[in-house]
Amino acid sequence: MAKLALFGGSPVRNEPYPSWPQGGSGESLWLEKVLAGNRWFAGLQGDDPDALGSLFGERFAALHGARFALPVANGSVAIEIALRALGVKPGDEVIVPSYTFISTATSVLMVGAVPVFADIEFHSYCLDPRDVARRIGPNTRVILPVHLGGQMADMPAMMEAAKQHGLSIVEDCAQAIGSALGGKRAGNWGDLGTFSFQSNKTMTAGEGGLVMTNDPSLAERVVALRAFGRFKGKGGVRSSDLTCQYLSSNYRLSEFQSAVLLGQLERFPEQDARRQANATRLTEGLKEIPGLDHIRVNKSSMKHGYYYYLVRYEPEAYGNLDPARLCDALNAEGIPFVPGDRKPLYRHPVFETRNLSNHLCPHALERYGQAVDLKNPECPVAEEACKSTIILRHQVLLGDTKDMDDIIEALWKVHKNINEILAKEEKE
Ligand SMILES: Cc1ncc(COP(=O)(O)O)c(C=O)c1O
Repeated sequence: MAKLALFGGSPVRNEPYPSWPQGGSGESLWLEKVLAGNRWFAGLQGDDPDALGSLFGERFAALHGARFALPVANGSVAIEIALRALGVKPGDEVIVPSYTFISTATSVLMVGAVPVFADIEFHSYCLDPRDVARRIGPNTRVILPVHLGGQMADMPAMMEAAKQHGLSIVEDCAQAIGSALGGKRAGNWGDLGTFSFQSNKTMTAGEGGLVMTNDPSLAERVVALRAFGRFKGKGGVRSSDLTCQYLSSNYRLSEFQSAVLLGQLERFPEQDARRQANATRLTEGLKEIPGLDHIRVNKSSMKHGYYYYLVRYEPEAYGNLDPARLCDALNAEGIPFVPGDRKPLYRHPVFETRNLSNHLCPHALERYGQAVDLKNPECPVAEEACKSTIILRHQVLLGDTKDMDDIIEALWKVHKNINEILAKEEKE
């Protein structure tokens, strides 16, 4: 049996995997266009017709089959703007998954509303519609599913629950650019969808975000909230007609970021196709290894965005090994696995009452430990996922077939040597 690299054996590989972000001549051309002109911002409301931000919005909307795609500063404020466009107010409740990026829930607090954590589904790691149903109460206003790692949440079930209870839906699509379910792209199912173009994302300008909707009146509110709450007056688009009607701040994206995003959008289809093909190859190989599972809804109608390639291991088959220790062994073999989330969102100190004692969320404070138990929301699936999940980031899937085969070889190698790793753990 080949000796693990962790214990001095030869690694499966020494060559690095593709790095991220990637830019090139496309991005440079768009950037030069901005530099050469005298338009470095997208206009008072961020939507001047000849701004690159507007062009990027149109192209991104076309990619997702949506009517309005409105660039904003980042994916976190995109969620805040979407909630505010729906009229969510302090004290309203928003149901969020307990296994996601922190700002899915903190953006709810930032508008004074209360995040109510629900569990995820075992087979998808996305919000569980049955658990959502259990948590709907008189103050619930919005369901906020996250398409985790690019995998679509069960949107038909979410839509049904929202319809039954008169709720709105905001989809957090930060990790799901280009994902789809039943031919309908992410961001098109709910009332609004939000995206992020932060540096790790599959389309990036270092920072950036976007709000998507098919509803013209919501789009009008998003445009206003993006720029100081300014609405256009009856006189049309002349800037002198702008009046501030909502309290808001400046959440516009700069033209430099939109330029980079236009370049990224052009390279997206080719990269997306490569990720899909490599993920399929990986999944074929992974199926053969006992105790390992690729977390994916096995429906041909789902197009995965592959922001993350999520792997769950059977805790018993791997001796309850900590995900970070399993990653150490795989990293030593030259495979850049990273641990998944180490704790459910509600275990972050930010949700402790003492850390919430500020003017932003008095209602959340009032409710903690009362109707909404944020500290102990009982999400066993999320708890379990935190103990047994490892991740490959999307850039790894931009490699070639040999790169994928090396991943499978390293997973087999670690699987066969697992007792050696566990014995060392025990000694330490
Ligand atoms: C699921 C999810 N929601 C929200 C965000 C926030 O986006 P941003 O970092 O652009 O604020 C991110 C990414 O960072 C994310 O992964």
